[in-house]
Amino acid sequence: MTTQTVIRFEPRGAAKEAFARTDPELLLSGAAGTGKSVGALYKVFFACLMTPRVRALIVRKTHASLTASTLVTFREKIAAEAIEHGYVRWYGGSGSEPASFKFRNGSVVVVGGLDRATRLLSTEYDLCFIDEAIECTEEDIDTIVTRLRNGRLSYQQLIMATNPGPPTHHLKIRADEGRAVMLYSKHEDNPRMHDGTEWTEYGRDYLTRLESLTGARYHRMRWGKWVANEGIIYEGWDPSVHVVDRFVVPDDWTRYWTVDFGYVNAFVCQMWAEDPDGRLFMYREHYSTKKTVDEMAEAILETVTKPNPDFVAPRDGSHVPAHRKRGEWTEPMPRLILADHDAEGRAVLERELGRSTRAAKKAVLDGIQAVQQRMKVASDGRPRLFLLRDSRVARDQELADAKKPTSTEEEIPGYVWDVGAGKNPKEQPLKDGDHGCDAMRYLVLHRDPRNKPSIRVMK
Ligand SMILES: Nc1ncnc2c1ncn2[C@@H]1O[C@H](COP(=O)(O)OP(=O)(O)O)[C@@H](O)[C@H]1O
Ligand SMILES: [Mg+2]
Repeated sequence: MTTQTVIRFEPRGAAKEAFARTDPELLLSGAAGTGKSVGALYKVFFACLMTPRVRALIVRKTHASLTASTLVTFREKIAAEAIEHGYVRWYGGSGSEPASFKFRNGSVVVVGGLDRATRLLSTEYDLCFIDEAIECTEEDIDTIVTRLRNGRLSYQQLIMATNPGPPTHHLKIRADEGRAVMLYSKHEDNPRMHDGTEWTEYGRDYLTRLESLTGARYHRMRWGKWVANEGIIYEGWDPSVHVVDRFVVPDDWTRYWTVDFGYVNAFVCQMWAEDPDGRLFMYREHYSTKKTVDEMAEAILETVTKPNPDFVAPRDGSHVPAHRKRGEWTEPMPRLILADHDAEGRAVLERELGRSTRAAKKAVLDGIQAVQQRMKVASDGRPRLFLLRDSRVARDQELADAKKPTSTEEEIPGYVWDVGAGKNPKEQPLKDGDHGCDAMRYLVLHRDPRNKPSIRVMK
């Protein structure tokens, strides 16, 4: 294999600077699609190629997210030809050894998620790349730093890539305090978007889509700025507290479903379980645009039932409700399905699911206060509302392309009060990217009605 077979990458801007720098920590910050992951992955790849027996690590917060994104880029874009020529081999891992790419010169790139960190962090490395580092806690990052001392490269380095977040985020502070060198990655740095002189057609389309964003999301996604959301509604939200790793939900926990209808906006159906102490856990979520209620009902039932082996489609092609095509349930049925007040939507949903629904109480401020109350950390050190990590069943590509939230978890930090002209602050949320938040408050208000104190005493 010759190096010229691999080089199609054209480093520019932040990626180019990251290539040249040997500082202990680099933070590549910028909006999605600016070339952060590709830049960092190329650096890791070349370091391993040029120097024998280098040990590198590529991680993300979870194994599943790494496999679905960063690893695909590494395998199909960066290392593709080296793999094809047999210079780099994929090793799937074993009980004791993590998965890795093994180079013929003895270098390795170990890959994995911090949700299975023990195997990854039992050895030492020269170079580590954390993708989407904003998902990681400061402790996650500091632990990785302690593993950077393999000594095969003349420098040991941690490279992090991230979208910008609030200015109070620990990553921004890390850079402000001089621990990490911040490199700003821009859309112009990606040759697919900008040819060096002007925007490409792809680049122009991409930027046009970003123009419809609002608030902090716009400033972060368009201009790469670390700005705070003005008027955040759930100020107590902390993903390191409220988002928990997946676990098998016990069968005796009561299930609730809550639905917010939408077609142009997202249709959201969340599935929640309540533990014996009354804590709520969202364990599954359907979050899609451009789907009819019929289609959503099918998708929902597919996640909770097996197919009905005896089902035969009627010869006359007449409509069969979705539930008739499904068989045995694979989890407990919901005690209650709450839905917003869309008469037609509810009628279709009930017909298709073969279950009744209840119109949600829509008092917005009461619902918000009820959720805020549950997000508070109680005297036992835990809040009373959690989202299980990776609850969303399928990612809506159109929303993702438009850089809009694709799940409730992604909505919450940008769920803000409408402070538009003439509006009183803290009266009404901004009606944008709030569909999962709506569904969530329907359920919480149902469990914690404002007129009856229902907070159970915690041990
Ligand atoms: N310097 C570059 N040279 C060639 N292609 C690039 C470069 N930067 C970005 N790209 C292209 O843009 C896509 C998005 O880049 P990526 O690194 O995944 O963005 P980010 O991590 O910032 O979201 C890549 O898959 C690749 O096709
Ligand atoms: Mg990326």
